[in-house]
Amino acid sequence: MERAAAISFSLSILTGLYAGEGVLPQGPVNGAVGRTVMFITNLSPPPQPFITISWSFNGENIINSTSDSTGPGYRERITLNRTTGSLELRNLTLADSGQYIVAIVKATTETIIQSTELVVYEPVSNASITGPAEHLFANESSANLTCEGAGHITLRQWMKDGQPLPPGDNLFFSEDNRTVSISPVMRHDAGEYKCYLANPASFANASHIVIVNYGPDSMTILSPDTAEVETFTLLYCSVVSVPPARFTWLFNGQQTSVHEAGYVITSISYNNSGDYRCVAMNDLTRRNVSGDHHLSVKDKSAIPLSPEAAAGIAVTVTLVVVTVGLGLYFGINHNRNKTIKPTENDSDVYETVRPTLPRPRVNLPPGPTNTDSASTMYNTSIN
Ligand SMILES: *[C@@H]1O[C@H](CO)[C@@H](O)[C@H](O)[C@H]1NC(C)=O
Ligand SMILES: *[C@@H]1O[C@H](CO)[C@@H](O)[C@H](O)[C@H]1NC(C)=O
Ligand SMILES: *[C@@H]1O[C@H](CO)[C@@H](O)[C@H](O)[C@H]1NC(C)=O
Ligand SMILES: *[C@@H]1O[C@H](CO)[C@@H](O)[C@H](O)[C@H]1NC(C)=O
Ligand SMILES: *[C@@H]1O[C@H](CO)[C@@H](O)[C@H](O)[C@H]1NC(C)=O
Ligand SMILES: *[C@@H]1O[C@H](CO)[C@@H](O)[C@H](O)[C@H]1NC(C)=O
Ligand SMILES: *[C@@H]1O[C@H](CO)[C@@H](O)[C@H](O)[C@H]1NC(C)=O
Ligand SMILES: *[C@@H]1O[C@H](CO)[C@@H](O)[C@H](O)[C@H]1NC(C)=O
Ligand SMILES: *[C@@H]1O[C@H](CO)[C@@H](O)[C@H](O)[C@H]1NC(C)=O
Ligand SMILES: *[C@@H]1O[C@H](CO)[C@@H](O)[C@H](O)[C@H]1NC(C)=O
Repeated sequence: MERAAAISFSLSILTGLYAGEGVLPQGPVNGAVGRTVMFITNLSPPPQPFITISWSFNGENIINSTSDSTGPGYRERITLNRTTGSLELRNLTLADSGQYIVAIVKATTETIIQSTELVVYEPVSNASITGPAEHLFANESSANLTCEGAGHITLRQWMKDGQPLPPGDNLFFSEDNRTVSISPVMRHDAGEYKCYLANPASFANASHIVIVNYGPDSMTILSPDTAEVETFTLLYCSVVSVPPARFTWLFNGQQTSVHEAGYVITSISYNNSGDYRCVAMNDLTRRNVSGDHHLSVKDKSAIPLSPEAAAGIAVTVTLVVVTVGLGLYFGINHNRNKTIKPTENDSDVYETVRPTLPRPRVNLPPGPTNTDSASTMYNTSIN
C-alpha cells in the first residue's frame, strides 16, 4: 500500500497533476488526415476564468492564452475553448501525431498539467471487392473474392448477408483477410458479401453479390390424380433452379404450347386424361430434368352438392389453407434461421412463376409434400 501511494505521489509530481485527475480522456486520440480532432477536457466552466491555458505539441507552443501567442502553422487550424480548456485541431496531417500537453492555471493558482497522445492515420477509402467474372456453378467452380482499399488499413473483416463470415470446409481467408477463397462453391455460398476496412480513425466498406448457379432438381409435380370434368384443374411443376428454369409440358408424348411452371386447364375435358410430363431446363447449367404425372378425368359427382356438403368442402379448404399457411410460415422461418452450413439440398430458391387463377371449383392437388416450394404453390393456387 505504502509503495503504491509513493509511486502515485511521484507520478503526480512528474506529470504536475495537482488536481483534476484525468482531465483529458485516456489516449491515444485517433485522427484521420484532413479531418478534425477535439481534445476535450472534463473541466466544468469555472466561476472565475482560468488565468492561463496553454497547449503544446512535442514541446512546441500551440497556443498560450496569456501571451495570446499561437505557434506557427496553428493559427488557421485551432479553436481554443477558454471556458473548458478544450482544443479543436483541424486539417490534420500525419506530422500532427505526437504528444500534446495542456497546462491550465486556475484562478485559485492551482495548476493542472496533463498530456495525451494523438495518432493520425491516412483515412481508409475506396474499398472495393473483386470477384470472379465468370459464372459460378455449385460443386464445380472455385471463387476468390479480394478486397482492396486505399489508406492505412489496420483491420479487414468480411460479412455475408449481414453476418460475420466464418471460415468453413470450403472457405478460407488469406492471412491478412485480403482474400476469401471458396472451393468448391456451394449453393449456400450465394449471397451478399461485404468487406469492412478500418483503422482506429476511419472505415470504408464494399459489397459484392455472389450468384451460384445450379439445378434444376427436386422436381415435384403438384396435381390431383383425378379431376371432375368441366372443373378448373392445375398441374404445377415445382423445381429448384438458379437461374430460374424454363419449362416445357408434354401431353401423351406430344409437345404442348405450355411453357410455364403451371399447366392450367380452365375447364377440363375427358380427352385431357393422360400422361403429362414436365421438362425443366436451366440454360446456364445446361441441365434438364423431367417428371411425369397421370391425370384421369371422371364424371361429375352424381349427387349435386347439398349445402352441408358444400360447407364441409369449405371447411376442408380452410384447413388446407391453414395447414399450408403454417407450412409456409415454418418454411420461411426455417430458411431465415438457416445456420452456417445448410445441406446442399436445402433449397434457397423457388420458382417464382405464380399463375393468377380464377376461382371456380378447384381440383385440389394431393396433400402437400414436405417441400417448401410445394407449400408456396398451394397457397398460391388456392388464394
Ligand atoms: C504563457 O505565456 C506567459 C506570458 O508570456 C508565460 O509566462 C507562460 O510561461 C506561458 N506558459 C507556457 C506554458 O508556456
Ligand atoms: C466551450 O465548451 C462548453 C462545454 O462543452 C460549451 O458549452 C461552450 O459553448 C464552449 N464555448 C465555445 C466558445 O465554444
Ligand atoms: C489543409 O492543409 C492542406 C495542406 O497543408 C492545404 O492545402 C489546405 O488548404 C488545408 N485546408 C484547410 C481547410 O485548411
Ligand atoms: C479513390 O478513387 C477515386 C476514383 O476512382 C480516385 O480519384 C482517388 O484518387 C482514389 N483515392 C485514393 C486515396 O486512392
Ligand atoms: C453437391 O455436393 C453436395 C454435398 O457434397 C451433394 O449433396 C450434392 O448432391 C452435390 N450436387 C451436385 C449437383 O453434384
Ligand atoms: C484463388 O487464390 C489462390 C491463392 O492465391 C489460388 O491458388 C487460386 O488459383 C485462386 N483461385 C481462383 C479461382 O482464382
Ligand atoms: C480477419 O478477420 C477475423 C474475423 O473477422 C478477425 O478476427 C481478424 O482480426 C481479421 N484480421 C485482420 C488482419 O484484419
Ligand atoms: C458501409 O457501412 C455503412 C455503415 O455501417 C453503411 O451504412 C453502408 O451502407 C455500408 N456501405 C456498403 C457499400 O456496404
Ligand atoms: C377435347 O375435347 C373438346 C371438347 O370436349 C374439344 O373442343 C377439343 O378440341 C378436344 N381436344 C383434343 C386435343 O382432342
Ligand atoms: C434439354 O432440353 C432441350 C429442349 O428439349 C434440348 O434441346 C436439350 O438438348 C436438352 N439438353 C439436355 C442436356 O438434355
